Amino acid sequence: MEKYVIRGGRPLKGTVQVSGAKNAALGIIAASIMTDDPVLIENMPNVNDIGVMLDAIVSMGGSVEKKDAHTYLICGNGVSTEDAEGTDILRRIRAGYYFIGAMLGKNGYACVPLPGGCNIGSRPIDQHIKGFTALGADVRVENGVVTAKVGDTPLHGAHIYFDVVSVGATINVMMAASMADGQTILENVAKEPHIVDAANFLNSMGANIRGAGTDTIRIRGVKKFHKSSYAIIPDQIEAGTFMCMAAMTRGDVIVNNVIPKHLESITAKLREMGNVVFEYDEAVEVIGEAVQRRTDVKTLPYPGFPTDMQPQITTALCLAKGTSIVTESIFESRFKYVDELRLMGANITINGNVAIISGIDRLSGAYMTAPDLRAGAALVMAALAANGQSTVENISYILRGYENFDEKLRGIGGDIVCIDS
Ligand code: UD1
Repeated sequence: MEKYVIRGGRPLKGTVQVSGAKNAALGIIAASIMTDDPVLIENMPNVNDIGVMLDAIVSMGGSVEKKDAHTYLICGNGVSTEDAEGTDILRRIRAGYYFIGAMLGKNGYACVPLPGGCNIGSRPIDQHIKGFTALGADVRVENGVVTAKVGDTPLHGAHIYFDVVSVGATINVMMAASMADGQTILENVAKEPHIVDAANFLNSMGANIRGAGTDTIRIRGVKKFHKSSYAIIPDQIEAGTFMCMAAMTRGDVIVNNVIPKHLESITAKLREMGNVVFEYDEAVEVIGEAVQRRTDVKTLPYPGFPTDMQPQITTALCLAKGTSIVTESIFESRFKYVDELRLMGANITINGNVAIISGIDRLSGAYMTAPDLRAGAALVMAALAANGQSTVENISYILRGYENFDEKLRGIGGDIVCIDS
């Protein structure tokens, strides 16, 4: 079991490179098997969840060729979800469900295990099922497996209103609808940058999708997709994590290879706390203010403040003057890491989905366990800002979504080593 040992108290300084967006890549990898032609994907993040998706393609009968650290040639010819052993690997991650939309659209049949992933709430998939059903599929969930198949008639376009704004359901139903007969209109969809990226990728293979990034997506189904070559957008959450780290350690970090527009909600909150944030064409620079102020944060679908940045901003607020309130409105169990922060001396009270944070001057090192991916990164951040030495265990969670995390942090002055115990 690997763990991080961190000696804190040093401001982070320098330039850090952001990798490709994990959550965009997960949808795009699944979509890539919708053509039998090879698809070249660049700027792929080298993280464990991506490795699982690529392994899944191979175990389902497709092929994956690594061209370099971040470039893969994927060929979906031969992929089938009919063999339970081939799809079993998908239980390990959340995004395995994207193969339902991809395979249903392409072959009219998908059989995929129920999604795993971080335990941050109940995470139902009823909106995915609602969408597939409206397109004419018969969807059943039995013994931990989702089976979706079309009957005598092929998938057909439909007008679908999502009852909750869901990233996963938007991408999944968009994929299936892009090969359905006729027009589909998706309303109340998610607008996250990776929705736009997934739509752009599908269009690059020949799909006809308009409106991604707005509340309504219009799709005209096409019969067949063709080969494509595509570069994934930078990771908004990895970038935001480094931004919070720069602020919390009172450092000065240029976060490179980003789209500053995607980071606006994070930039706004860091500025409200008194930090200086410069926006450049493809970078942001965060200069941490010595005395930071309280603020309130509520997580919301994009362009609101991302739930995947909630643990990081809550942690940064532990060292801000005054009482801050963070409201988690997307997932119901996303404050599990707070017990770990308390070990460092943080003063946080949880009341349902609300965290009340009373700022203190210093955190002190502690022995902690990462409860999930983003919370794990937040604990590392707290340790970098704290007095003394900390240990963060269970870092396999962190490695699911952050590429070369400790190496990147050492590159900006973080005193962090990865130890295999
Ligand atoms: C994706 C991201 C995850 C991020 C989340 C919210 C991936 C692989 N994961 O997860 O990192 O935290 O978006 O930005 O991209 N919901 C339903 N029914 C459904 C689907 C969702 O009620 O069928 C609810 C969820 O419980 C949650 C909310 O909708 O309360 C948003 O979930 P959703 O956007 O679907 O999250 P994921 O796609 O699972």
